[in-house]
Amino acid sequence: LYARADEPVGSTAAIQDAMVDDADGFMSSDVGGPFEEQDSLRAGERGPSLLEDFIFRQKITHFDHERVPERAVHARGAGAHGTFTSYADWSNITAASFLNSPGKETPVFVRFSTVAGSRGSADTARDVHGFATRFYTDEGNFDIVGNNIPVFFIQDAIRFPDLIHSVKPSPDSEIPQAATAHDSAWDFFSQQPSTLHTLFWAMAGFGIPRSYRHMDGFGVHTFRLVTDDGQSKLVKWHWKTKQGRASLYWEEAQVLSGKNADVHRQDLFEAIAAGNGPEWELAVQIVEESDAFAFSFDLLDPTKIIPEEYAPLQKLGVMKLHTNPTNYFAETEQIMFQPGHIVRGVDFTEDPLLQGRIFSYLDTQLNRNGGPNFEQLPINRPVAPIHNNNRDGAGQMFIHKNTKAYTPNTLNQGYPQQATQQQGRGFFSAPSRTTTGNLVRGLPSSFDDHWSQPRLFYNSLQPVEQQFLINAIRFETSHLTSTAVKENVLTQLNRISHDIATRVASALGMTAPDADDTYYHDNTTIGISITQDRLPTV
Ligand code: HEM
Repeated sequence: LYARADEPVGSTAAIQDAMVDDADGFMSSDVGGPFEEQDSLRAGERGPSLLEDFIFRQKITHFDHERVPERAVHARGAGAHGTFTSYADWSNITAASFLNSPGKETPVFVRFSTVAGSRGSADTARDVHGFATRFYTDEGNFDIVGNNIPVFFIQDAIRFPDLIHSVKPSPDSEIPQAATAHDSAWDFFSQQPSTLHTLFWAMAGFGIPRSYRHMDGFGVHTFRLVTDDGQSKLVKWHWKTKQGRASLYWEEAQVLSGKNADVHRQDLFEAIAAGNGPEWELAVQIVEESDAFAFSFDLLDPTKIIPEEYAPLQKLGVMKLHTNPTNYFAETEQIMFQPGHIVRGVDFTEDPLLQGRIFSYLDTQLNRNGGPNFEQLPINRPVAPIHNNNRDGAGQMFIHKNTKAYTPNTLNQGYPQQATQQQGRGFFSAPSRTTTGNLVRGLPSSFDDHWSQPRLFYNSLQPVEQQFLINAIRFETSHLTSTAVKENVLTQLNRISHDIATRVASALGMTAPDADDTYYHDNTTIGISITQDRLPTV
């Protein structure tokens, strides 16, 4: 269970130990007996095949069960191994061990993905892109399960099934590009204006990146970092590409999806194989807990960015991807990322989307794996040792010697011991976190402004990029069959900007609603201005 001293950085001992090399072996059955498996056993040369043929049955049965359910979302993806190197000792902001000394190296695995398409869909479909990173730290696995867009469509996880049902292929024809599918997606977007900010990023070049290597990544939610002495700060995670950010033109994306639907996974695989693996710097935006309410937007609202002039990026380290998977299924398909995979020194916030995600990934992975032992698979196994009282279940790979699988016990000297703060094991939950209140459904009014930040985003673009975004919305909405949906889309666009609504309406042969000044305030830059000297020293 421990990382081997001689293991190549960027892979773990468990992965190395699971490697199978067929170079010197004879063909054998799953239970080890040598056999020949090219011809089935028959009664006479021209006779029927026999049920007795266990060799045939083992081979065909295994084949029949080769597929597991693909991911409910983010099914299409590609991944690679790499190494993260910390720039410094960051123990003044976090107890996380992978950040506790300059030059410290930690193996990582990253999986990039699209969201809506199935496993066999095209890489260049316009979509939000997943950017999920697993750090195999010496204190357990830490995942940043992020996207290439810094915000998300919805604010409460209970609406996630609605979002996904609206953007998946049409349920009758299973055609993603069906007009009915466009109607559903834009119906949802225009009825649920929290989607507008993410939608704008996706309609700009971020939805059609030039390659995975040319994307930034974002943890999206506000998280907490916690020091060994229990001090916490609010942070947003960022991955900054060192390759430069670049997108495709829509026309290029369309041609590529016909000519080479694997263009992104091929680009990543070939760059790494050629020794030209991509690199990203990991950075955080830091906000003091005492400034949690200082902004005009809510830091728990995942549809909002923190403008960088309020909280500049602090770069913590660099990640390089250098090794392709040996087997796509065993590594890229079977890796199970979870927002709930945190390590000492990292903590959650009360973001209602994050809170729901912490439940959802474990739940869906139980379904994908048919049992609770998927963390024991080589790609999921931590390099840190595992000691607990979890037992049995389908596919159990450990042989536990301890027969006293309960706590407290006296018969096994009380082992395994609890890891406590007194033993210098630090905090998982920031000690300052408190919660109180009556039970409520519904989000606070501080989550209500859905239009200021899309406007901020649009205004930050160059005119040519603004045209790119407008063209994308025109293209997508030109497929709508429902006049009501078109009108609702124009209503929402008009709340962001009358100019945008007018330009989209002209392409649809419609008229934009009248300008509505009640929406055109700038609610993003109101609030505190955290200047450099107010920032924590890091
Ligand atoms: C998968 C990101 C919101 C449910 C993923 C993956 C990423 C991701 C990157 C792919 C992981 C992989 O490569 O294995 C995000 C981000 C979100 C978000 C950044 C919002 C900020 C949600 C929400 C839910 C959800 C709200 C449900 C309540 C899922 C599920 C999977 C998934 C079920 C498939 C996991 C698996 O089968 O292994 N998400 N997601 N996501 N996400 Fe999310």
